[in-house]
Amino acid sequence: MTSLTASHAADLVAALLFILSLAGLSQHRTSRAGVVYGIAGMALALVATVVVAAQSITAGAVALIVLATALGAAMGLWRARRVEMTQMPELIAVLHSFVGLAAVLVGWNSYLEVEAHGTAQTEVGADLLGIHHAEVFIGIFIGAVTFTGSIVAFLKLSARIKSRPLTLPGKNALNVGALAAFVGLTVWFTISPNLPLMIAVTVLALALGWHLVASIGGGDMPVVVSMLNSYSGWAAAAAGFLLDNNLLIVTGALVGSSGAYLSYIMCKAMNRSFLSVIAGGFGIEAPSGAAEEQGEHREVRASEAAELLAQARSVVITPGYGMAVAQAQHPVAELTRRLREQGVEVRFGVHPVAGRLPGHMNVLLAEAKVPYDIVLEMDEINDDLADTSVVLVIGANDTVNPAATDDPASPIAGMPVLRVWEAEQVIVFKRSMASGYAGVQNPLFFRENTSMLFGDAKQSVEDILQALGTDGRRDAAPAARQATQVSH
Ligand code: TAP
Repeated sequence: MTSLTASHAADLVAALLFILSLAGLSQHRTSRAGVVYGIAGMALALVATVVVAAQSITAGAVALIVLATALGAAMGLWRARRVEMTQMPELIAVLHSFVGLAAVLVGWNSYLEVEAHGTAQTEVGADLLGIHHAEVFIGIFIGAVTFTGSIVAFLKLSARIKSRPLTLPGKNALNVGALAAFVGLTVWFTISPNLPLMIAVTVLALALGWHLVASIGGGDMPVVVSMLNSYSGWAAAAAGFLLDNNLLIVTGALVGSSGAYLSYIMCKAMNRSFLSVIAGGFGIEAPSGAAEEQGEHREVRASEAAELLAQARSVVITPGYGMAVAQAQHPVAELTRRLREQGVEVRFGVHPVAGRLPGHMNVLLAEAKVPYDIVLEMDEINDDLADTSVVLVIGANDTVNPAATDDPASPIAGMPVLRVWEAEQVIVFKRSMASGYAGVQNPLFFRENTSMLFGDAKQSVEDILQALGTDGRRDAAPAARQATQVSH
């Protein structure tokens, strides 16, 4: 068997392993196997690529590839071991930016190769030159949009820049104009390829990627991250065409299509129009000072919250990003256990985008050994909230914001939310009156049946546990619930 056919076989096996990996990752139960398939597929693909490359390049170049791979693997391992769950989306955004940058470099390299050597010494036939030029342009365009878009997503997700949307005048016209300019430049380039056009398309795509993501408000960032995932796949596929690498084409197409489908599912779950999110059509920020118009909020102490819980018939806990930041899942699990021992029905309501990545809350609750059967999806719990004694909103904000259903002018209007305000009592655990990720004021905090329990969520839950005492009932005699009225 020649090494070429062996490499084709390796490509095929690696592609199958990637498909098995995606299938495995789609279910909690099989996700570990999915990760193992993915690692095996990637290892096989890397070895096959280096073995094939080794036949046409010098030993020094092979050594360079091996060195770069080892360095990249070491850095990847180091980052993956250190990254906090809450930082996962920003890490993913950075990784997408690498794929985008790689596609831009492959495109430039491929152009310069053909320019420097002509078609005679490259694998590009003269009759295919026009197609090659179009591939170069498309690869650079998708790669550069992915590159800057991912960098802006990283900066927003890591709070290095504000998550509020950039609203340049005529922003939609700017995006459509940039797309039209790209089509025009591509036609021009295939007829008469030249360096200024290469520079023009690169700058245009870098600016478009930046603008597209900068124009999107915080509430829509989950969709943006999955969209960039899709773009990075198409960028890789484009690079695969230029490098004549079938496995890269297949892998890129798998990532591109699965990312696009995930974006579609997320848009449906959040009641968003896919096209509108791409065009940055949402996210007009709530005017600052909206808090003043909301009225007063009430504060509650941990001991008073414990009192309320001890007397509750049913409790629903809706966790959010703040629970992850505070790492409050263990005391929350302990509180759940104690209340259930006392005969209180306790369930969890998990919003599809609670936290900073899909499934974030489910993973934290599973880690703290909260039984699966009491962790319900938003749609499963929403109708039961009106019949619930107490809802504990632990570090969640946007996902429980009534403005999404009540205020058509809100940037998050139409996004499905957990209707926690329908319960008899709501206690919100957070540190301040600050808005959530989408930067939108939350009228829930000012409702008659809502009390704010300020402080770090972990500390607050531990204080409640202490107040509940070892038997799950309050130690002290029931304190009258003196909810403090605070102007805001
Ligand atoms: P958010 O709306 O971001 O609100 C989290 C709240 O937690 C904040 O208001 C914050 O208030 C509070 N908090 C932070 N640290 C805390 C601590 N140590 N103790 C107590 N509270 C703390 O969270 P959410 O309701 O989970 O909504 C998720 C948001 O993130 C949505 O807008 C969603 O679109 C976006 N997003 C989601 C994803 C995915 S896929 N899930 C990805 C990217 C973005 P204080 O500062 O006052 O404490």
